[in-house]
Amino acid sequence: MAYLGVNVDHVATLRQARQTYEPDPVAAAALAVLGGAEVITVHLREDRRHIQDRDVRILRETVPHGLNLELSTEAEIIDIACQIRPDQATLVPERREEVTTEGGLNVVGEFARVATAVEQLHAADIPVSLFIDPDFAQLEASAKLGVAAVELHTGAYALASGQAQSSELERLVQAGSYCNELGLRLHAGHGLNYHNVRGVAAIEQMQELNIGHSIMARAIFVGLKEAVSEMKRLIDAASR
Ligand code: PXP
Repeated sequence: MAYLGVNVDHVATLRQARQTYEPDPVAAAALAVLGGAEVITVHLREDRRHIQDRDVRILRETVPHGLNLELSTEAEIIDIACQIRPDQATLVPERREEVTTEGGLNVVGEFARVATAVEQLHAADIPVSLFIDPDFAQLEASAKLGVAAVELHTGAYALASGQAQSSELERLVQAGSYCNELGLRLHAGHGLNYHNVRGVAAIEQMQELNIGHSIMARAIFVGLKEAVSEMKRLIDAASR
């Protein structure tokens, strides 16, 4: 059964809009766990547009298992990760102008840079996942780095509809079975919602889904614990 990782960055985005103390992503994480989340995901961006260093430090104390820190390969951020020691570090590409993470990490093209970051994280005993597109060359390069997992970017699947969406799902399925051959744990995320999550959750090798925006959007109306529980039920039913 795939774990549900709830991304609480969006709570911090609302807080930062007023540069105040509420709503607190730490409180959101507690409610997400009560709703059934096994993993809490936060992205400490270089520009600190949502999650702050303080959030990650406190979450490390309040989320004893399953803290997943998304981060770029930038040395300053890698150093913070090595000090805080999340249960998993997910390396993602980062551009200041982007609204959200747009594509997967180019492990093939930036092999040396990614390798340096992975080595530093491994030296601090932090398991690493790489956020990549469902592309065989990226999977092979990831496996060469000895990482524990890859998180497949589901953005193209989420944006597509009809036959195009079925083709994108098939790409994810093929990438999933190749992960198995390469000995990589399979995670996925980005753009997943209550309508499109089933297909991805049903992929045989799927171990973790990281979902943020759709859960927070629903939480505004039904509350966070309920929104997380609803997503958890969908994932469990699909992966049974
Ligand atoms: N996984 C990764 C690596 C991400 O960067 C994000 C977005 O922050 C997510 C999952 C969650 O995406 P969404 O908010 O679209 O559910």
